[in-house]
Amino acid sequence: MTETSSAPITPADITEAVIRRYDACPDPRLREIMQAFVGHLHGFVTEVGLTPEEWAAAIRILTDTGHITDARRQEFILWSDSMGVSMLVDAIANRVPAGATESTVLGPFYVPGSPPRGYGESMLDEDSVGTPAYVYGRVLSLDGTPIAGAELDLWQNDADMLYAVQKEEGPEDHLRGRYLTREDGSFAFVAVRPVPYPIPNDGPVGRMLDATARHPWRPAHIHAIVRAPGHRTTVTHFFDEESEYLDSDTVFAVKPSLLRRFVERDADDPERPPGIEGPWVSMESDVVLVPGDGGAPIVDQGRTA
Ligand code: BEZ
Ligand code: FE
Repeated sequence: MTETSSAPITPADITEAVIRRYDACPDPRLREIMQAFVGHLHGFVTEVGLTPEEWAAAIRILTDTGHITDARRQEFILWSDSMGVSMLVDAIANRVPAGATESTVLGPFYVPGSPPRGYGESMLDEDSVGTPAYVYGRVLSLDGTPIAGAELDLWQNDADMLYAVQKEEGPEDHLRGRYLTREDGSFAFVAVRPVPYPIPNDGPVGRMLDATARHPWRPAHIHAIVRAPGHRTTVTHFFDEESEYLDSDTVFAVKPSLLRRFVERDADDPERPPGIEGPWVSMESDVVLVPGDGGAPIVDQGRTA
């Protein structure tokens, strides 16, 4: 047997060797990302002293995440959302000046191609036991100029806590719609008062939340993507300021500037819009866009639905 005088390989030697393997990567940004990724990944494994059993559990979690992901369920994005990474990426990419509407997480239930609907029209394609909500406001540019022809691409859950895309049965465009602003920048639509709901928690992300004593709930909100020529596209929510879970949203997406008051109204309120019966709520919110180009395209979540 040959004796050698060299010292045993250490964990730090392995990390260094992997980082150096990317020195010749011709794309500088890819090199930066890979070397930082390896450094942090190895740093994490080293810091917690990851055991072979824990490593195997991590591989099982990733495998389960792949298996549960399909055209309707995106568990990888759910990991990103529940670990706050989606909000972090958004916060780095979408800094807005004071007065502009802040962005927040897109979430997994956005489906492009919602039906165009007219000013004041309802987004309900079937009956709901929820409280009708009349939502109105204006889309403005940062200097206060109203924007005509801005598009609000809206989606929300019903009183049963589900989005249309989560249901096998039922009209696929229920509580989704695209609305254009009028000459004075105004928009209006009929929705239902949104309710808090749990993120899908029957998969690996749900098991992580359970194991760590985290709840899966999101506070009540209506989603909006607002687009207008000559302005940055904004992906945002209107949160109900009275909702539960505003201070513990499982995806860390609440921003104080996005809280809105849903005002309770009686059935005989003279301002009751046509088509609404019984008690209802109204919610007023302007949306303020930042001049610029549209910005990054909305992430394709691999949906075919
Ligand atoms: C949503 O608001 O639709 C959502 C966002 C992140 C994870 C799950 C759901
Ligand atoms: Fe949502």
